[in-house]
Amino acid sequence: MLGFLEGLRGRGAGTEAGDGTEQLPSHIYSEFFAEQLQTRKETNGQCLADDKSKSLLLDSFEAEASNQVEAPAATDHDAWIFGYGSLVWKADFPYIDRRRGFVWGFKRRFYQHSIDHRGIPERPGRVVTLLPGDPNQDRVYGVAYRIAASQKAAVLDHLDYREKNGYERCSLEFHEYPVATTTPIQVIMYVATQANDSYAGNVSEVASIARQIFSSAGPSGPNREYLFNLATAMAELFPGAVDEHLEELVVNVRRHIAEDEPHLLRQAVLEEIASILREKELPEQAQAQKLEELLMRCQQPGGREWLLHGALQQRRSET
Ligand code: SIN
Repeated sequence: MLGFLEGLRGRGAGTEAGDGTEQLPSHIYSEFFAEQLQTRKETNGQCLADDKSKSLLLDSFEAEASNQVEAPAATDHDAWIFGYGSLVWKADFPYIDRRRGFVWGFKRRFYQHSIDHRGIPERPGRVVTLLPGDPNQDRVYGVAYRIAASQKAAVLDHLDYREKNGYERCSLEFHEYPVATTTPIQVIMYVATQANDSYAGNVSEVASIARQIFSSAGPSGPNREYLFNLATAMAELFPGAVDEHLEELVVNVRRHIAEDEPHLLRQAVLEEIASILREKELPEQAQAQKLEELLMRCQQPGGREWLLHGALQQRRSET
């Protein structure tokens, strides 16, 4: 069906339709850190779910602890940062060591709206935060990164910016995996509190969260990529560790992609075309221009999710 729209190309000058996304100024930080980071392509930022090498992340964990060409020496003034969401698979900051492990007493949930990374204010996505759990039973697995004292301020500034949509820093104990023989490490982590404006809570549990993830995208990419990257990283780094909430979401979103996406996209595109063609008073050239703009919008990052969101809303309004 995009092929159909492609066929309309040339019937009018294309204009940037825009999908509402904006470029995060985080590239400033990336440039700042670029010199310190290894240039070799890491798992960072890639869609792990699409990667054929299943043990990429674990292999790289075992191969090296730091991501810097010349890592500063460790000191007593270094900081440790614990990531349990995107920080697990996207460490876009310099670190001198990293460990797999977990924190006690929390549950990871997709209860936070994302309006700046995996969604936009009009169509928020969902990302993870931590809820208080049983201190003796609930564990959240993730990765702790050691930040050199000399780089601590810049890294924390960067992460404060990256996690600015509702997340606050807190400090707690981290235990290493698979064997927690060493003394726990005091780590800083970012948690979205239930009082922040983007806290979504469990208002509509897994089925609805899955639909939201399926049909959202933001400046950092599709929301589904965030979910799949996290699930893949968890399976690779913590084989056997169960996270029912995460796994249920993966099953639901994959089902939407396989069973619903093709016809929802078709329906949404046809609806958009029909609404342009219904504007009878428009001269032919203006109509062609609008069709061209539609094509551009569908092809832009987030275009697929924009169509899916519209189609899901349409479906809801009809039932
Ligand atoms: C984290 O990764 O630790 C925080 C949540 C996120 O950015 O996904």
